[in-house]
Formats: sequence, structure tokens, C-alpha cells
Amino acid sequence: MRGVPIKVAIAGVGNCTSVLVQGLKFYSGTDYKGLWHPNVAGFRPKDIQLAAVFDIDSRKVGLELSKAIFAPPNVARRYLVIPKGKVMVHPGVSRGDVAPHLSGVKLERSSSEDVSKHLEDVGADLLVNLVSSGSDGSSEEYARAALRAGCGFINCTPSLILKNNKLAADFQRAKLPLIGDDLMSQFGGTVFHKGLLGLMVKRGVKVSKSYQLDVGGGSETLNTIDEGIKLAKREMKTTAIASEVPYKFETIAGTTDFVDYMGNERTSYFWFDGSSFMGSGISVDVYLRSSDGANAGNVLLDVIRAAYRCMKIGRLGTVGEICAYGFKSPPKPAHFEEAYTKFAALYVR
Ligand SMILES: NC(=O)c1ccc[n+]([C@@H]2O[C@H](COP(=O)([O-])OP(=O)(O)OC[C@H]3O[C@@H](n4cnc5c(N)ncnc54)[C@H](O)[C@@H]3O)[C@@H](O)[C@H]2O)c1
Repeated sequence: MRGVPIKVAIAGVGNCTSVLVQGLKFYSGTDYKGLWHPNVAGFRPKDIQLAAVFDIDSRKVGLELSKAIFAPPNVARRYLVIPKGKVMVHPGVSRGDVAPHLSGVKLERSSSEDVSKHLEDVGADLLVNLVSSGSDGSSEEYARAALRAGCGFINCTPSLILKNNKLAADFQRAKLPLIGDDLMSQFGGTVFHKGLLGLMVKRGVKVSKSYQLDVGGGSETLNTIDEGIKLAKREMKTTAIASEVPYKFETIAGTTDFVDYMGNERTSYFWFDGSSFMGSGISVDVYLRSSDGANAGNVLLDVIRAAYRCMKIGRLGTVGEICAYGFKSPPKPAHFEEAYTKFAALYVR
């Protein structure tokens, strides 16, 4: 493994990747407006270089990256002009778990061995998995391809990669980091929900019920209203939120509808019901508007730099503090404030 640049490969050239690519260009100088942590583990965003990208959508495969990130059905905002580069979208792997939004679309696929070879050829250090929700078999295949190529793996999807004990042990044996599962946005519904619940608990309010109902646009929202994916994703979000309250209460969190013209925006509606002095009622109704891709940007830049640091110092396998800080379903559930404090103490300079 060399020093900088940190060579990163990405599976899935969707809206998150679009904003990440734009963010890397935006933060390639010294203007850090909007950047949460300019220096993580001694690295700046300019130390990250995109070395390879994979997709299976024929509208993106074969395109140069600066074009592919704006190809349909991507709807993430165009923040700046991205100069033409040399990275072309390579065909990825698919294990028959094609996302609902790709039904009827011509696909371009390759083998897991071909993905490994491409990762080796470009000298990738880390593979970031940003494929569609519900692609569980394909996500596992990307993890195996990374392992064969000697790359660390960061799973941003809700597929349960770290819960696969064999895979986790294989990464440990190969001395590579395995980070995930399911990215937690910087200021998205999950952390907002956790934060308000935590505040109620800290102020002695007995929480009895809460919900978080999301509506949004973009292909990810379209996929997550598919019944099977919706239930799996709801389960993960709900579990993540419940870990913030030290007793049982009723809660539901998940996507409820797709609104085409919302683009990459999302509105999360929250309701909290609790009681206090002599059983007096306390309730909160509030909503949060955010932009999915942009909400992922800061956390992605942080976990990439921290994971690379782990590779350099030989801290391998499932790295607890990175998973707890940046993901909804880490191996060990953690209160989000504690998780942040640990991450910041170790990596933020
Ligand atoms: N803030 C966030 O946006 C956020 C937060 C948490 C988790 N995530 C997760 O990140 C992932 C990406 O989100 P997004 O909004 O960019 O989704 P998206 O739908 O915009 O993009 C997904 C991309 O993956 C591609 N794809 C599907 N199957 C593939 C395969 N087998 N190989 C290669 N490419 C494949 C699709 O063609 C598409 O380009 C999702 O799993 C989502 O749950 C995102």
C-alpha cells in the first residue's frame, strides 16, 4: 500500500456518487465551505483520488465519469462543472437482485473476477459500495471482489455485509478493513430522530411512541417503496433509532412514498409522544428537508479517510468506531454522541 493519493473505487454511479465526485472537485483547493472535517487522520479531501467506478445500467457503463454522474436516472444537483477525466464506468457484477428502478433497462454486467482484476489494475485501496438498496447478493459479491484484490470495503447500503461472520473473518485474516453497514447521513432522518429521542430521554420525558415517515424522489426512494426492500430498510432504521432509548417504546421509521418531482430531496415527518410530570403529555411534530446525496458527502469523505488510516496502521477487520460513527447498523449499536466523540478523538485533527 502506497501513501497518498488514497485510491478509491466505487460500485454504483448513482446520486450519492454524483455528489461525492462533485465534492472531491469542490474541496480540491483550500476553500472548505461546508466541509465538516477538513483534516481526518492527516488527510484532506484532495488526497482522495477516484480510481475506478462500476455500474450495471447501460445508460452509464462505458461513459466517462464526469458524464456518467449526470446520466439518467440520476437527479442529484449539478453544483459545479466537472472537467473530463480518464475514469470510465466499468461493468459491475449483479447476482440477479436487480433494483426495481432498473427493470426493463438494458444491463451491462461482468464477473466478480473481472471486478477484482480491474481493482488490482488501477491499484485501488478501498472499494465503496453505493449500489441500490436491496442488491444483497451483489453487495456481497463486491465485498468478495475487494477481498481478492486486497482492497478494504465500505458498505454504504443496507445489505447486511458485516453481519456475515465468515466475510468479516476473511477481511480480518486478509488484514483489510470492513466498514458498514448502511451509511448514516450527516443530518438525515435517522440521526435527527435519534437526537430528539436522546434529548427527551435526557430531560426525563418518558417516550411512548414515535414515527419518521419519509417521502422523496430519486431512484433510491423508488426502490425503497418496493415492499420487500421497504420492510428490510424500515427494520434497520427502526432498530437504529430504538437503540437511543434505554427502554421499550413503539417506533416506526422508513420511506413511505416516492414523489418524482422531489428529485434528490427528501422530507422526513416526525412525531414523538411522551409523558412527564403526573403523566402530563408532551408531543412533538416536526419535519426535516434535506438532500440525500449531499447529506452523504461529509460522512463518506470522513469514513474513507479514517478507513485508509486503519489500513496504514494495521487496524483491521470491522473497525468499531468508524462503523458506529458513520453507519446505521454497526456491529455494536452505539449512542450517536458517544460514537462521534470516539471517532473525533481518534481521527479528527
Ligand atoms: N444519504 C444517502 O444518500 C444515503 C444514506 C444511507 C444509505 N445510502 C445508500 O447508498 C446507496 C446509493 O444511494 P443513491 O441515492 O446513490 O442510489 P441511486 O439509486 O441514485 O444509485 C444507485 C446506483 O447503483 C447502480 N447499481 C445497481 N445495482 C448495481 C450493481 N449490481 N452493480 C453496480 N451498480 C449497481 C444503479 O444503476 C445506480 O447507478 C443505496 O444503497 C442507499 O441505501 C444512501
